[in-house]
Amino acid sequence: MTQPKTYSEAIDEIRSRLDILDAVQSRVVLKKRGANYWGCCPFHNEKTPSFCVSPQKGIFKCFGCGEGGDAITFLMKINNQSFSDVIKDLALQFGIELPKGSADNNKYNEEKQQIKKLLEKACDYYNNNLLTLPEAKGALEYLEKRGITKDIIDEYKLGYSKKGYTELQNEFKSEFTPIIFEKAGLTVQTEKGDTVDRFRHRIMIPIRDESGSVIAFGARAIEANQNPKYLNSPDTPLYNKSRILYGINIAKDSMIKEDYVVIMEGYFDVISAQAAGLKNAVASCGTALTVDHVRLIAKYSKSRKIYLAFDTDSAGLKATQRSTDVIKEAFTGLGNIKMFDQAYSSLSEDKYTCEIRVIAPFDSKDPDEYIREYGIDQYKKYIKQAPLLIDFELEQALKDYKPDFSPTDKLALVKKIMPLIEEIPNNIVQNEYIRYVSDKIDLDEKALIREVNRSKSLQNTVKSEFTGIVTKSSNFCEKAQKNLLSLFLADVNKNNTNFLLENIKNVKFINKNLIIIKEAIDKLIYQVNNDVEKLIQSLYNEFAEDNELKDIITDLIYIAESFKGLSDKDFKAAVQENRAKIEQYHTNCEKKEFASKYKDLNDDDVESMQFQMQLREKIKKKQTIGEKLS
Ligand code: UTP
Ligand code: MN
Repeated sequence: MTQPKTYSEAIDEIRSRLDILDAVQSRVVLKKRGANYWGCCPFHNEKTPSFCVSPQKGIFKCFGCGEGGDAITFLMKINNQSFSDVIKDLALQFGIELPKGSADNNKYNEEKQQIKKLLEKACDYYNNNLLTLPEAKGALEYLEKRGITKDIIDEYKLGYSKKGYTELQNEFKSEFTPIIFEKAGLTVQTEKGDTVDRFRHRIMIPIRDESGSVIAFGARAIEANQNPKYLNSPDTPLYNKSRILYGINIAKDSMIKEDYVVIMEGYFDVISAQAAGLKNAVASCGTALTVDHVRLIAKYSKSRKIYLAFDTDSAGLKATQRSTDVIKEAFTGLGNIKMFDQAYSSLSEDKYTCEIRVIAPFDSKDPDEYIREYGIDQYKKYIKQAPLLIDFELEQALKDYKPDFSPTDKLALVKKIMPLIEEIPNNIVQNEYIRYVSDKIDLDEKALIREVNRSKSLQNTVKSEFTGIVTKSSNFCEKAQKNLLSLFLADVNKNNTNFLLENIKNVKFINKNLIIIKEAIDKLIYQVNNDVEKLIQSLYNEFAEDNELKDIITDLIYIAESFKGLSDKDFKAAVQENRAKIEQYHTNCEKKEFASKYKDLNDDDVESMQFQMQLREKIKKKQTIGEKLS
């Protein structure tokens, strides 16, 4: 590539290389719907996605808070940077030289460039130390003992930092100022005020960003009494430990290809795994897993299969639990976390956004030790049969069970297990688990079912106090109402809009909020002249103060995505089908009312009265249509 001659040429080049999905996906988990991608907006707090990215148009737009723009705008907003700083960062990232003097080449960028250079040089220097210095002999032997070969040292550019206090500084002080050393995280101030090398007498592990540039170091102690065991770079202008995963530069391609990722605990777990051929392994660097880490993973692994390979001691189990919560948080609003087997979920594949499995070898070795002892093939076998999170959690809980448990002991155990079972979205699968558990701990299955149901109805009352009464039996009706409303927000032409309006007019909506929205659409649809984007904006404006309604509108926009591109015929069918569902609901309610009113009549009588009533309804309807026609 020839370097651009002018600043505007450089910006053009950057724009052409910058992919909006790429820019957004490290900070927002997105789900594809039609031509667009949807996620929860990073600029305001929400639980249902109203943040939309259009790769074709190269723009993003949040229908909740109104933020929008192109990829550069996104980076400016999310990083709180000026336009020129974003351009400088991207130039750095893409290896594009910005023409001198054409823009304000301020200190900010110069500094980052310098830090980057120093880190690369330090990496080479440490690596050279390890391979050539007599002083590094202990380190080299230690690595050898761990099964780290010369090839691995080369590939990961592992290194050694000398014992002296200012070795690194002495080496590069003619090229870099003390400020750059400090900002690169390579020096620290002692209490006496001296500036010393941060890393001394340690095995140096370079940490790289997605594109493979060195941005930090993890450094392992060599001596048994050397503390801490691992010393890590602090956050710097180039390095944010809550956003980067160790090994991502190597793992990313394989994450796309294999369509899963294994999250491990330590640097050497990842090195061992990747070196042995399991390339899609990553680890967080001296910090717990964060939502940003999960977003980074979601960017590369499409079906979001995440395997957790943490220790099985109590600390490791806590890490598994914590990470699971973080993963679930990152995917909130995009669908359920897959909880059970493929065979069941193929019924409604699209509902699931992520699958979590747990790799926990029987002898509690960490992946590094396991792979060294039994080989990678054995480990891959373990991955193949790794249990789903729920199965793993259930096994963990059931492990405590003993046949001589008293009723109170059992109750305590059930209390522990209940939250796991309650989370299962599908009733059939839930019952399977109930049967399994009651069998395992010798419990009356019916009692367990009752317990689950009781807790469900308890939750429902809490919920209904919140969102207006939505009982379970009316769920399908609510869905049909939402479908009808969302059809307005699909890409409708005038004819279809009219058809929809005509059909929806006499349909009795039952949910308070949906009635409000229906009325608003009725009012606004003519003002916006069939422009869906305008309709959406007006709806948000209409309910600017009401978050609950705004959330429902977001929900509708989301549903509308799946109605986009329907043929006129399918559109009409969708309208009629949903309308019929709502009418069916009303009929069922009337039936029930009848039945309870005339308890002593038998079913046939109820049916016949019902029939007559419907007949009367139909006649009445014909009359109204007749009135309209005349
Ligand atoms: P561990 O100490 O749990 O085990 O560190 P390990 O990875 O098996 O270490 P080895 O095999 O003895 O070398 C797990 C991870 O936790 C972070 C590091 O990222 C490490 O890889 N860690 C651990 C620190 O950041 N600081 C520490 O002092 C210890
Ligand atoms: Mn280990």
